[in-house]
Amino acid sequence: MRVGLAYNIKPADHPPDLPADAFEEYDSEATVIHLCKALASLGHEVIRLGAGPGMIDALRESRPDIVFNIAEGEGGRCREAHVPALLEMLGIPYLGSDPLTLCVTLDKPVAKRLVSSEGFPTPRFCTFRSADEVEELGLAFPVIVKPAFEGSSKGVRLASRAVTLPEVRKMVSFVTGKYMQNAIVEEFVSGPEVTVGLVGNGAPRVVGVMEIVPKTVPHEEFVYSLEVKRDWENQVEYRCPPSFPPETVAEIERCAVGIYGLLGCRDFSRIDFRLDGNMIPQFIECNPLPGLSPGYGDLPIMAGKMGIPYTELISEILSHAMTRLGLRDR
Ligand SMILES: Nc1ncnc2c1ncn2[C@@H]1O[C@H](COP(=O)(O)OP(=O)(O)OP(=O)(O)O)[C@@H](O)[C@H]1O
Ligand SMILES: [Mg+2]
Repeated sequence: MRVGLAYNIKPADHPPDLPADAFEEYDSEATVIHLCKALASLGHEVIRLGAGPGMIDALRESRPDIVFNIAEGEGGRCREAHVPALLEMLGIPYLGSDPLTLCVTLDKPVAKRLVSSEGFPTPRFCTFRSADEVEELGLAFPVIVKPAFEGSSKGVRLASRAVTLPEVRKMVSFVTGKYMQNAIVEEFVSGPEVTVGLVGNGAPRVVGVMEIVPKTVPHEEFVYSLEVKRDWENQVEYRCPPSFPPETVAEIERCAVGIYGLLGCRDFSRIDFRLDGNMIPQFIECNPLPGLSPGYGDLPIMAGKMGIPYTELISEILSHAMTRLGLRDR
């Protein structure tokens, strides 16, 4: 098959006025090369489409049979939907979730409202447009302050966990000032952190439940922040399968599968939880465009720990998409 690859690459130069993580969600050239090699080794012809307006010409010229979309897009809370919406308009089949799912999941307050409306637990929260609005929160401390629509820990620092109102104000000011969007303030869930990888449609398959175990702080203080992700070898240990009792793992999987379906995820996704004092999984967020970097992305890491090599993971995701689309390998 002719597989087009849609992606955003990290720019070589970092404008000094932007935060250090301004392009954190974009892929490196190394990840794109790995993905191209995996697809080629499965017998496909790979066409690098990139992203942005130039992709429209590349699509018209190359006419791929399917687009493998990992493009994060640019600008605003609908950015991840740009490529899928364009592909739907042009009638080109693509892998992954549709524009609505990508918009809903990028906007954390919207995703949390949907998830809680179906009875899945998620920490209580409020949102602010500026630090001046921050008054009594009506939430229990500690809390965490995050950008309302970012991923890859953009705007999440160790200092994002706040225990006083002045700390909250400071971090709301950081988020609204540097990331030009609302800040979400959520009750901080102090128990272990897990991320769940899923693939498929209808009844998705759980690839793995991976516990992210902090090496340098107790999990009551742990934030899987930008600082930690950039130094993950020293800061965390990945445990997959996790060290929890079987009934806890079963409940995490039940929540993950339910949330995957209710948010309309397709082909693959990763869903993050933290466990509360009763070991109940509290939904943090859903990533329908999970990172696919072989050495760095949580989904490939957990697949590896479950005995699934990188190429096999990519093959499985692609074949779920092809079955869903009614495409046959050519
Ligand atoms: N309510 C919460 N309670 C405890 N920790 C939290 C909470 N919300 C976020 N965190 C911590 O902050 C980290 C980043 O938050 P979140 O997953 O919402 O951001 P993200 O940037 O979308 O992440 P990703 O890199 O997975 O895309 C989480 O992995 C977790 O460690
Ligand atoms: Mg996350």
